[in-house]
Parts: sequence; structure tokens; C-alpha cells
Amino acid sequence: MDGRLGGRLVIATHNPGKLWEMRALLAPYGIEALSAAELGLAEPEEDAASFAANAKLKAQGAAKAANLPALADDSGLCVDALGGAPGLHSARWAEISPGGPRDFSTAMDKVEAALRKARATPPFRAHFISAIALAWPNGRSATFEGKVDGTLVFPPRGKLGFGYDPIFLPDGLTRTFGEMMMQEKQAMPADGSSPLSHRARAFQAFARACL
Ligand code: IMP
Repeated sequence: MDGRLGGRLVIATHNPGKLWEMRALLAPYGIEALSAAELGLAEPEEDAASFAANAKLKAQGAAKAANLPALADDSGLCVDALGGAPGLHSARWAEISPGGPRDFSTAMDKVEAALRKARATPPFRAHFISAIALAWPNGRSATFEGKVDGTLVFPPRGKLGFGYDPIFLPDGLTRTFGEMMMQEKQAMPADGSSPLSHRARAFQAFARACL
């Protein structure tokens, strides 16, 4: 990727939690971030075989449709005792009916039920992964990945954040992502060390290369 970003870009997501986090990450760079929903862009089918490929697919679709550079995140929760599930299907596990509205308290109950069915015992090791793709209207793209390790706790704790945040306890900390303000989950340490969340880690790699 030789072009540096400036001006405007599209955040290719329809997920309000991700949009909020990505806008906050971009804010210090003075980039105007439009959302795919605000531009009326369709939500593409996420049927690729990896987080990075899905992120690229979403970013390229939005960049072409909006004729602007586009940034997309594909992310998910991978649970060791479930062979990496829900993984690429993290959003789908929250659908009340196929393709229908999402409810993450149902999704977290499903994870707990699946662990019980698998006769897994604590600590329930898990990680979040985020792949961020930047695509240009001419089809070129670059992807960046971030990961955070932790354990799952039941019952869920905290009402902050989104998605699976209330069951995810990052290693070395005593509060779940659901008990943390977004600023803490996302903070970029001034000394250049690694931020906490998977998305902030992927964003740090993206920012170093492109901003
Ligand atoms: P997708 O990337 O749109 O396929 O959605 C991935 C799903 O993973 C989201 O809908 C969330 O449920 C979950 N997820 C991804 N990142 C996070 C996070 O930072 N906290 C909680 N859940 C997350």
C-alpha cells in the first residue's frame, strides 16, 4: 500500500458497536468517517473462509459502491473448547431466527450451553480476533490483524460494550470488556505499546502503515 489516507473514508459496517469504536479510533487523525448505513450501502454476504478475507470483501464492496477508500472489520470470538466456534459465525450465533434480528444475551447463553454440552471445564480459554481491511476504489487493499486472549465468565458481567463483551475477561485483568468503558478497551498507549482490544491492535497496525 503506497497511498496514505486523508480526507474521507467509509467505515463498511452496519454494526453500531463497531462503528462507534472505529470512529473513536479514527478521531485523532482528522479523517471524516462516513458509515455504510449512512450512505445506504448494502450489507454484503460474509461467506469467505477467514476473518481477513471477509474484511477485504466488505471493504472492497463499500469502496467500489461509494467511490471512496473504505475500512472494514471482520471479527469474532473463538473459544478453544469449541474448536474455535463461534468464530466466523459470531454474529450468526446471535440471530434469533436465520437472517433475523440479533440478540447477544441469547448468543452468550448458546456459548455457555455449547461448553456444557462439550463437558468443558473452566478456565474457558478464548480469544477475540479482528481483521481490518482498507480498500481503495481501484480494488487494491491491505489487511491487518489483532488478537486478544482471555477466558470466558458466566454469568455475563457488565452492561458496557457490545456483542460478547460481558463474558470476555482479558488475561491479566479483573473486569470483563462489558465492565469497561470503550476508552479503556480501545486506548492507544502513548509509549507505542500494544492496546488492549483486538480491534485496537489491528487498528494500530493499520494506522502505522496508512495514517
Ligand atoms: P462480523 O465481524 O460483522 O461478522 O461480526 C462479528 C461479531 O463478533 C459481532 O457481531 C460481535 O458479536 C462479535 N464481536 C466482534 N468484536 C467484538 C468485541 O469487541 N466485543 C464483543 N463482541 C465482538
